[in-house]
Amino acid sequence: MIVCSCNALSHKDVEAAIDSGASRPAEIYSARRCKAQCGNCVPGMLCMLRSALRDRDPAAAAASERAGGGCLLADTDRMSMS
Ligand code: FES
Repeated sequence: MIVCSCNALSHKDVEAAIDSGASRPAEIYSARRCKAQCGNCVPGMLCMLRSALRDRDPAAAAASERAGGGCLLADTDRMSMS
């Protein structure tokens, strides 16, 4: 399934980037040697990141959600959409 149509990133591309250590959408783009363009894929990437975090470390995921999403949501604000 395509997650990012601007960069033709599939869910497998995103999962591979997360498995390689990406913890923010910007790191996913970087791992796939592309950049955010329209940004419409960011919410889906954040869901995939949260799910992976929940699977790996439920306590850290709970703390992040209590803090309003922590760095994952802050990353959205810093992204360039140009
Ligand atoms: S859909 Fe990913 S940047 Fe546009």
